[in-house]
Amino acid sequence: SAYNNSTGDLTSQILQALDKADPISSAEAFPQVTFEAIKAALDRLASRSMVTYEQVEREEALLEPEAEEIVAHGSHEARVFEAVRKALDGLTLQDLETTIGDKTVTKLGQGKAFKEKWIKKDGTKLVALLKKRKLLKMQKVISFRISKGPKFALQLVKEETDLTAELIVSGAWKTATFRIAHTVPEPYNFNALGADQRAGALHPLNKVRQEFRQIFFEMGFTEMPTNQFVESGFWNFDALFVPQQHPARDLQDTFYVSDPPKADRPKPVSAEDKQDYDEYFQNVRQVHQDGKYGSIGYRYPWSEDESLRLVLRTHTTAISAAMLHKLAGQRTKDGRVPPARYFSIDRVFRNETVDATHLCEFHQVEGVIADYGLTLGGLMEFMEIFFGAMGVTDLRFKPAYNPYTEPSMEIFSYHKGLNKLIEIGNSGIFRPEMLEAMGLPKDMVVYGFGLSLERPTMIKYGISNIRELLGHQVDLNFVQKNPAVRLDKN
Ligand code: PHE
Repeated sequence: SAYNNSTGDLTSQILQALDKADPISSAEAFPQVTFEAIKAALDRLASRSMVTYEQVEREEALLEPEAEEIVAHGSHEARVFEAVRKALDGLTLQDLETTIGDKTVTKLGQGKAFKEKWIKKDGTKLVALLKKRKLLKMQKVISFRISKGPKFALQLVKEETDLTAELIVSGAWKTATFRIAHTVPEPYNFNALGADQRAGALHPLNKVRQEFRQIFFEMGFTEMPTNQFVESGFWNFDALFVPQQHPARDLQDTFYVSDPPKADRPKPVSAEDKQDYDEYFQNVRQVHQDGKYGSIGYRYPWSEDESLRLVLRTHTTAISAAMLHKLAGQRTKDGRVPPARYFSIDRVFRNETVDATHLCEFHQVEGVIADYGLTLGGLMEFMEIFFGAMGVTDLRFKPAYNPYTEPSMEIFSYHKGLNKLIEIGNSGIFRPEMLEAMGLPKDMVVYGFGLSLERPTMIKYGISNIRELLGHQVDLNFVQKNPAVRLDKN
């Protein structure tokens, strides 16, 4: 064949042929080209409206193997006649078979020859006769009737194989013709989302955490180092003026670590930390046991051993306490403790009965603001701005109790889906018993607030069971399929 399988060559052959005659038949114009090749070339031209085509099916008679032999050697009867003619005196059937060398040919041939009736038939009758004698069979042949399309031209315009950055930047993609690699022509889909990349994916908790971090940074907070899950009872409870008999310190609520058996006394963790930790430790003992800073205290024998027991931290407020104690050791040029804003978002542990909304571990979002002249109204306003940045509005505040804050407020928000007010956070103004023991000035006021990261994440991702969000039952597909960034703020 003069044509190879390159549709490039074939397309221009088709265009040339159409230029001379319109329509053309693929079977007549390109008898040697395979069905697949001609179809591919036609699809390519049709996708640009350069041709139109329709499929034509017709029946074609095909010689059976027996007929092929007849074409090569003559009919059976002719061969029998010839053998008999050559023998002159005639042949026995046995001899005839030996002479012809084929049993079937001999049998069919002599039958025909004896019949002697040589008749001329017309085409259709001949085909029917030959089919009956199993010399012909019919076969379906598919070809195309090809006509010029509305955009017929002799030349194919340049086709782009890839959508490149250059095409996008120049805007040329709007008019460019793209090469179609499929047998079914489809235009480039510029609205397609692209193939799934099966790349790593961030857990929803990480994404919401990132949103909170961004809000904190924008509001001038610095992140606290929370990279230790084990704390002493001192930082987790005593520093926060939580009495040693408080139910939160019970085994039912707190996980205790047995090995090592106890913590060191609090001490500086860096060289810059010039705070007197021994003095602080004694201040905490005194404020619990005897009262100090104008407080009568709890009046119980405070146990150092109890305060040095190791716990899995039950809240990140343990870190806030250590940070505020360090802050108390800092001074500005005018000798004042500088205002500060700290936040953290990390894991905490509680000995909870596991159910649809509780796990033994969760993530706490925590913030503290230390400044002068702060008021309770200022805390409420701050919470409105903070939650407003997450799309949570119309807050309600409810008086609450924490051993380390006074006053304390639980924060509620109306949940449209659940059609009720739900608790979204806890907050308050830290007590002087806590702050003055650290050495913070009397006129410094410190706000504190905390919330779980899981609660807003569950609301935003429509999850009703916390076990679908955290732990071994999490569906990895759920993590993979969620968009990398949430653009809605609800
Ligand atoms: N520690 C509190 C909790 O776990 C949150 C909180 C932090 C409340 C700081 C007041 C001040 O819920």
